[in-house]
Amino acid sequence: MKIFTTKGEIAEYLLQKRSAGKTIGLVPTMGALHNGHISLLAQAKAATGEVVCSIFVNPTQFNDPKDLEKYPRPIESDIEKLKSAGCDVLFNPPVSEVYAADEPAWHLDIGPLENMLEGKFRPGHYQGVTQVVFKLFDIIKPDMAFFGQKDYQQVLVISRMVELLKLPVKMVMCPIVREPGGLAMSSRNVHLSAQEKQDALALSQLLQLVKENFATHTLPELKELAAGFMSQQPALRMEYFEIADGDTLYPATADTPKVVALVAAWAGKTRLIDNMIIK
Ligand code: PAF
Repeated sequence: MKIFTTKGEIAEYLLQKRSAGKTIGLVPTMGALHNGHISLLAQAKAATGEVVCSIFVNPTQFNDPKDLEKYPRPIESDIEKLKSAGCDVLFNPPVSEVYAADEPAWHLDIGPLENMLEGKFRPGHYQGVTQVVFKLFDIIKPDMAFFGQKDYQQVLVISRMVELLKLPVKMVMCPIVREPGGLAMSSRNVHLSAQEKQDALALSQLLQLVKENFATHTLPELKELAAGFMSQQPALRMEYFEIADGDTLYPATADTPKVVALVAAWAGKTRLIDNMIIK
């Protein structure tokens, strides 16, 4: 596996690959790789000729400095995992390679998606995400980019950017990978104690409950069912739960064609998100 830390070197290397007829697949990550990331790499490998993984803990998308500071950065074990997964190229730049000291301000009008659900609880988060993903797309120029469904709203936001800026990249959303009990895999799970991990199982159970009852209940009934279930989970501090339109994330109505249920909650000091495609 080739490892690059500078934009110029990786761009030159990928130019050669492209000239040789290879298609480029990008899996953007912030590292602390788990099987969810490995499944993105597998899908990228199946669909493209040269797979690039980026590991960059992007400071502009963290609205809480403590969260940025404690974000796990196990780079040596990440490199081993990427090699075993057959990744071709790792891009692991320092912050100074991505952001200039006099970095121009970034703002992309992504519409209502910016301030709903995740955006409401993490102000500025999606501006930081679009800023860094735009830069990564610009450096790597992938034909296809692979993102996890776990960050469902992020996939919608980046797809909106691709559409608005007419970026020549195909977005691929890959299914959530879950631990045996149902907990969605996340780099933040390393912060959970054994008890918190147990408590966190309620999130996927909640989504499953909604999915199983979707055909037989009205939306208000489902919301009531969900509220009842969560009231029995005092160890979790809920931020939001929504049964939403899968394209806009506005609350679903009886005739919404594509429905997704999304949840965010705290288990101790760790914030977790999960979602499930219901229809
Ligand atoms: O999903 C992530 O890990 C990050 O938000 C991303 C897409 C790598 C941008 O920093």
